[in-house]
Amino acid sequence: MRKIGILGLGAIGSVMSRALVAHPENEIFYYTRTPKSKIKIQFQNKKIEIPIDSKKERSEELDWLLICLKEYHFETAKEQLVQLIGVYTKVVVIRNGIELKAPITPFTTDENILECMIDCPTQPIEDNYYLQYRKPILKVEKSKLAKRFRALFTKNDVQIIEVQDYKTENWKKLIESSALGSILCLTGRTCSVFENPEVIDLYKDLLREGIEVAKSNGAIIEGNFESEMLDKIATYSKTKGSSMLSDRLTGNIIEVNAKNGAIEKVASQNKIATPINDTICKLLRQINQN
Ligand SMILES: NC(=O)c1ccc[n+]([C@@H]2O[C@H](COP(=O)([O-])OP(=O)(O)OC[C@H]3O[C@@H](n4cnc5c(N)ncnc54)[C@H](OP(=O)(O)O)[C@@H]3O)[C@@H](O)[C@H]2O)c1
Repeated sequence: MRKIGILGLGAIGSVMSRALVAHPENEIFYYTRTPKSKIKIQFQNKKIEIPIDSKKERSEELDWLLICLKEYHFETAKEQLVQLIGVYTKVVVIRNGIELKAPITPFTTDENILECMIDCPTQPIEDNYYLQYRKPILKVEKSKLAKRFRALFTKNDVQIIEVQDYKTENWKKLIESSALGSILCLTGRTCSVFENPEVIDLYKDLLREGIEVAKSNGAIIEGNFESEMLDKIATYSKTKGSSMLSDRLTGNIIEVNAKNGAIEKVASQNKIATPINDTICKLLRQINQN
């Protein structure tokens, strides 16, 4: 049996747990902050409950640890990371943002860490259920570790895409999600806001700033990326939202440092001027203070 720990049993931790328990060779250990006795997911109109024992002891070190925390949770999770990451434990960091290895490198070697982007909209609904909208799509860098990660799942529970240039993919997702997410979050509107050409111009400016910063960090962004992004917003339903908008509306902390703040940080390191993104970061942080 493979001993797999899941740190953080919110929306994504619950979705990943559900996929992992399906494989008969996985033994799962759950590490929560708020005590939980069940994972509750609604998927394709079915309600699924998985009983969990978050106090289960283990005698040996974990083979894998999946970290499903938000960016702002890492600072207070250091003690757990020390306890949960053994010499041979493979660590998968599943979250938004870039440079996902950085908070983990104090605890293990670089080759034991797999960065993972996830596309799987999931939100809390009534009675402590999470509504999972679709099958998770996970993107990881093509590697031996990625191959071993894939083997943890039964065939149909998740889609794993191994990419050659993870950095570029990661940046593209960051540029798109931070530009769109911050505009929806700050206006308090869904994608209907893009009916206004001035808002499209703002989106373009944010994309352009993001592209410059990404290139300065070594990402290879093709010339047609901006027009692809503009074509994409034209196809979105007017009611489409974003996680940043949902966080604002539900009063949760917005993951600024995993979105526009991540661009701001690299821009400052590489001395790239990003005045619009900088202003947006200030406004988002102000919302978080409220
Ligand atoms: N949800 C989505 O649709 C979605 C989609 C794509 C990407 N993502 C990304 O995936 C990442 C995780 O997001 P999420 O939506 O799953 O967040 P979430 O629902 O807030 O889950 C995070 C969980 O971590 C727990 N936690 C915090 N500190 C902890 C600690 N020290 N020890 C153990 N547990 C701890 C929290 O516990 P409490 O219950 O005590 O707060 C919470 O249950 C984020 O980067 C997010 O942006 C999310």
